[in-house]
Amino acid sequence: MFIGISCNVLKSLQHFCSAKGRVWVFISSRYQSHVNKRSYYSTCVSTLSEAKLRDKLQVCKSSEELVKKLSEVFTQQGVPESRLSAEYIIATCFGLSRKQFLHGNLSLLSQGEPFWSTLVQYSIRRLLREPVQYLVGNWEFYNLTLKVRRPVLIPRPETEELVDRILQFWKVVLRSGSKDKITRCLEIGCGSGAISLSLLKGWKEFAGDSRNQLKVTALDIDPEAVSLTRENAAIVLENEQKQLLDIHLQDIATFSLNKYDFLVSNPPYISEAEYQTLQPEIVQYEAPYALLGGKDGMDIIRIILRGAKNWLKKGGTIWLEVDPSHPNMIKDFLLKEPNIGIELLQVFKDMSGHARYCQMMVI
Ligand SMILES: C[S@@+](CC[C@H](N)C(=O)[O-])C[C@H]1O[C@@H](n2cnc3c(N)ncnc32)[C@H](O)[C@@H]1O
Repeated sequence: MFIGISCNVLKSLQHFCSAKGRVWVFISSRYQSHVNKRSYYSTCVSTLSEAKLRDKLQVCKSSEELVKKLSEVFTQQGVPESRLSAEYIIATCFGLSRKQFLHGNLSLLSQGEPFWSTLVQYSIRRLLREPVQYLVGNWEFYNLTLKVRRPVLIPRPETEELVDRILQFWKVVLRSGSKDKITRCLEIGCGSGAISLSLLKGWKEFAGDSRNQLKVTALDIDPEAVSLTRENAAIVLENEQKQLLDIHLQDIATFSLNKYDFLVSNPPYISEAEYQTLQPEIVQYEAPYALLGGKDGMDIIRIILRGAKNWLKKGGTIWLEVDPSHPNMIKDFLLKEPNIGIELLQVFKDMSGHARYCQMMVI
């Protein structure tokens, strides 16, 4: 039996190695003060030994058979999206993307020890509910392939919709506006860089060689997120675009630049109560400070609303991704604190029909 113990505050929990039923957990010293806080822990247990798992998988002769077998194992052990997980893991062991892998049925007869041991290790990590995105190491976001690694938030489909709405909005603004304008955009909480990078790429597509330029400042409180955004920028941006992006390690609570036309953020917005209900994939592997927005999920949103007037020019636009309960709370908050100087213009629903995106303006 192997047991993985992880803790949502142990963000640099380096990894656990299991051998002959033993589990080793390495905890970075700066998180050891949290170790005795019971509520921070959740445990995943699998009743399958590493050796048994290997025996089950190694009898398979083809990749299709292997996908079927590994999916069955995941289903029996309660791992969600079992088939998809199996496909991603096996494709990665072959050094292929899932799309490439699904093109054919590959023979396993010539696969040696490294293939099987990698497969077993990845499968164990998935059985311990590590998100498949972290296993694969990259993920598609708005036509970009971005590196992802824990504990930095895995970009979500809802955020692709946010990017799409902003690009549509900019297209209209640019069509009617001046021809050689620089738009300065601030992203709060850049994570993997998903929003900033896809906005820069998307802008380039519709602005073409016109003199309208987008410059982005992306900031995050997490050094891991800042490094990942830098790495992703180096991969996805063309050379001349790289100088249009500034990336900073910065807590928004102490930010003071005031030159922006546009603010975008997918802030941590999960309430404490909802956080308790989330799957192990999220709670055990993604950083709590990337998700949790305090008791009602509004802590960082309130900081953003209070600061926006100082960071943006008059007439500047703000787009936020929020929890569906937040648009009404934001309305009330702006009514109660009129000096904040922000107007809520529109609320948009996401693909599932939830009120998810707030468009606001500095007045
Ligand atoms: C929900 S994640 C969004 C990540 C990325 N923008 C995306 O959409 O995939 C929120 C991000 O905000 C960052 N964050 C949390 N508190 C912050 C603060 N006070 N100042 C700046 N960034 C913060 C977290 O580290 C995390 O990367």
